Amino acid sequence: MNTIENLRLRIKEITENYKDEEIGGWITGDGPIPCDILFVGEAPGKTEVEQGRPFVGMAGETFENYLNSIGQSRDKIRITNTCSFRPIKTKEGKTGRVTISNRTPKVSEIKLFKEILDDEIELVNPKLIITLGNIPLKRLTNFKSIGECHGQLYFNQELQRHVFPMYHPSALTYNRNDEFKSMYNKDWLKLKETLKTL
Ligand code: URA
Repeated sequence: MNTIENLRLRIKEITENYKDEEIGGWITGDGPIPCDILFVGEAPGKTEVEQGRPFVGMAGETFENYLNSIGQSRDKIRITNTCSFRPIKTKEGKTGRVTISNRTPKVSEIKLFKEILDDEIELVNPKLIITLGNIPLKRLTNFKSIGECHGQLYFNQELQRHVFPMYHPSALTYNRNDEFKSMYNKDWLKLKETLKTL
């Protein structure tokens, strides 16, 4: 049966049985079901696993500020991830101190959650899916890169749903130039206009 509790149990089981790479905990999506607006991110980080919710760390703060800036609020949207566990890598420094950091999920790891995300989309039944960054973009569409498609509305035949690709909010931290920021701001304004048409 496709229920949110069933999705939660499947995510837990997949994570507990995964032994190929290092991972650090898991979370589910967050927000109302059904819901007209579904954002899909990459994978949770440390803060997300600690708090059990997607997008509550640094990228989440940026995300929520932009969301509020277009008159939307977090409790009215649903947000989830392409990979439900936290992919990590550990590195031992010269002093023997071990540091843990996030890594991009591998294609095989994204595949583990393919049916989970498909089922979540079906459950949420959104009018619009907003992909955040390249990972959900490549998982859900045939686009090769966010640079070629961001800030526009597409109808995805396979999903039979509208998709609006956006850069991941953390892109703002490594693209600090004004040109990128202004383009990113414009994409949010375009999203605001798009939402009015749904
Ligand atoms: N980045 C993501 O892609 N997902 C999260 O849940 C947090 C940060």
